Amino acid sequence: MTNLPYAKKKVSENCIYHEATKDELHKVAVDFANSALRCKEAGVDGVQIHGAHGYLINSFLSPSTNYRTDEYGGKIENRARILFEVYDAIRRAVGDDFIIGVKFPFSDLNENSIKPEESIFVCKELEKRGINFIEVSSGMVMDNSSASFTPVVRNDNQAPFLKYASQLACQVAIPIISVCGYRTPDMVEKALSETKISAVSFGRPLVREPNLPNRWKKTDVLQCVFLAIVAVILWGTKLLLVKLRNKAKYRDEQFSSLPSEMQAGNKARTGRKSVVGIFPV
Ligand SMILES: Cc1cc2nc3c(=O)[nH]c(=O)nc-3n(C[C@H](O)[C@H](O)[C@H](O)COP(=O)(O)O)c2cc1C
Repeated sequence: MTNLPYAKKKVSENCIYHEATKDELHKVAVDFANSALRCKEAGVDGVQIHGAHGYLINSFLSPSTNYRTDEYGGKIENRARILFEVYDAIRRAVGDDFIIGVKFPFSDLNENSIKPEESIFVCKELEKRGINFIEVSSGMVMDNSSASFTPVVRNDNQAPFLKYASQLACQVAIPIISVCGYRTPDMVEKALSETKISAVSFGRPLVREPNLPNRWKKTDVLQCVFLAIVAVILWGTKLLLVKLRNKAKYRDEQFSSLPSEMQAGNKARTGRKSVVGIFPV
C-alpha cells in the first residue's frame, strides 16, 4: 500500500496512502530482483513480472492512477520507469540465461487509459532491454473485488484481448502471448494462425480442468485417425470405380466386336450396359 503512486490519501484511521519516495521505489526494484533470484536458486526456468490488473506497476503505467509530477509521473517514459527499473534489477540479479517476461496491461479499459502507442513504446523498450516474452492482458482492479475484472467468457465472446496482443505482435520480434478467454481449440487455432502471436495462455480453464490441453490434443489425434480412415475409404472407393469403369469399357469393346445378331441377343439377356459402376465385380 505504501508504494502506490497516488497523492496522499487517507483511507481509514490506520491506513494513509502516501506517494512512494524514491528510496521506497528503489527498494521495490531490489525486492523484485531478490524474489526472482530466489526463484532461480529454487530451480525454476523463469519469472514473470506482474505489470497488469491494477497492481503496483500498472498503477504507475496508467494515467488514471498516476498523479505524480516527478520523474515517475507524467509522460509515458516516466510512468514506465518503475517497470524498467524492476526489469533491469531482475536481469542484473539472475543473468542472461534466465527467462523474464511481463504480464502487460495494453489497455486499462477505463476512460483515462494508457494509450496503444504508449503500450507499444513500453514493450519495444522492454524488448531492447532484453525481456523474453510479453503476455498481453488488460483492465484494472481498483476495488479489491479481483473476481470482477475478468468478464465471464463464453464461446461467443472469446479472447477479448487478442486484438491488443495481435497489434503488439506486429511491432516487436519477441514472443507475444495472448491471455484471457480461450475456451475452444478452434479459437486457439484461429488466434495462432491468423495473428502473429506466439502462444495463448489459460487461467480458469486449467483450474476447471488441469488436463485440458491433453484432452484437446487427444481429440486432435482421434480426429486425425478418423480422417485417415475416411481418406482410405474414399481412396478405395475411387479405385473400385476406376476398376469398374475399365471393366465396363472392356466389356463394351468386346460387345461391339461381336456380330450384330449376337450383340442384340446379349443386350437383351444382360441389360447391364446402362448400370456401369454399381454392379458387383
Ligand atoms: C478470480 C480471478 C482472480 C485472478 N487473480 C489474479 C491474480 O491475482 N494475479 C494474476 O496475475 N492474474 C489473476 N487473474 C487473471 C488470470 O491470471 C488470467 O489472466 C485470466 O484468468 C486469464 O483468463 P482465463 O481465465 O479466461 O483463461 C485472476 C482471474 C480471475 C478470474
